[in-house]
Amino acid sequence: MNELDQHRQTALAAIAGAATLDALEAERVAALGKKGWVSLALKTLGQMSPDERQQAAPAIQAIRTEVSDALAARKDVLEAAALDARLASENLDLTLPAPAAPRGSVHPVSQVMDELAEIFADLGFAVATGPEIEDDWHNFTALNMAETHPARAMHDTFYFPDKDESGRSMLLRTHTSPVQIRSMVEQGAPLRIIAPGRVYRSDSDATHTPMFHQIEGLVVDRGIHLGHLKWTLETFLKAFFEREDIVLRLRPSYFPFTEPSVEVDVGFELVGGRRVLGGSGDAPGHDWMELLGSGMVNRRVIEMAGLDPDVWQGFAWGLGVDRLAMLKYGMDDLRAFFDGDARWLAHYGFGAFDQPTLSAGVGAGI
Ligand code: DAH
Repeated sequence: MNELDQHRQTALAAIAGAATLDALEAERVAALGKKGWVSLALKTLGQMSPDERQQAAPAIQAIRTEVSDALAARKDVLEAAALDARLASENLDLTLPAPAAPRGSVHPVSQVMDELAEIFADLGFAVATGPEIEDDWHNFTALNMAETHPARAMHDTFYFPDKDESGRSMLLRTHTSPVQIRSMVEQGAPLRIIAPGRVYRSDSDATHTPMFHQIEGLVVDRGIHLGHLKWTLETFLKAFFEREDIVLRLRPSYFPFTEPSVEVDVGFELVGGRRVLGGSGDAPGHDWMELLGSGMVNRRVIEMAGLDPDVWQGFAWGLGVDRLAMLKYGMDDLRAFFDGDARWLAHYGFGAFDQPTLSAGVGAGI
């Protein structure tokens, strides 16, 4: 019994001093495990005389209970301490302020395209798209620019070396006008679409980049005339520039895909060296600037897109999105649009929450 009492005292001290759950488990195994000293002591009972056993058995059981209780008590203490430590390390300080400068911004071109989609959606236009890798039928021929048409040469086209399966030359679209053809072929008439997107021309200086953005507009319906065109463009530009005093001047022009064709100028005033749109270009201190190309869709184009030009008429326009963004938000070098300079983006970019809406204003964010 002396030996057992020794074991008991050592074990109780070790259990009380166990610093980790692993150390405590080692103590449990040493005492109560199959080969632990308590288990071995219980086994000796079998070899004892009945009298000896009557004395020894309750004593060993008592020690066993005492050790088990001590193990359980220590386990509770260690588990509570482990939980406290975890709670202390896994905290999240919800009072921390938000970062001073949110990272990332919406590029002005994306923002302006969203503004345009918003304005035209309100006028009943859907957004249409077409491929940037286009064939020369959609990009030129169907737009009334036959192979020998001189206007083709003016487009500085990037051609691919190989033709497609049907023998058409492949190219990077030089304008968004092929989407007119694709929309008419796929959807028929009546039709009201805008087609914003990337276009490509082999050209590069302060106002030209090899890739730039255009937005095309097309309305096809019965009885469409030039008055519809003028009203639509005026309404759109007033909404876009958020000024009621936008004045347009329609000048006769030429595009193969429209007849008649008009170039649309807008009146502006020089304010502190910056062009501010508004007012008639003929007013004192004002002038006109060319803004976009448009016209009544040439009946040959309507025909080539599979519609009957005696039933359906249309008007169309195309303009540079980058240029619109420059005019509205005051940038003066187009090349900076595509440099990916984080400082430029931080300055001219828009927050993700600056969603243009007609109710909040399509110029929200400035
Ligand atoms: N596609 C022409 C260009 O890139 C712009 C244009 C002019 C589009 C007149 C039109 C239009 O739809 O009617 O220069």
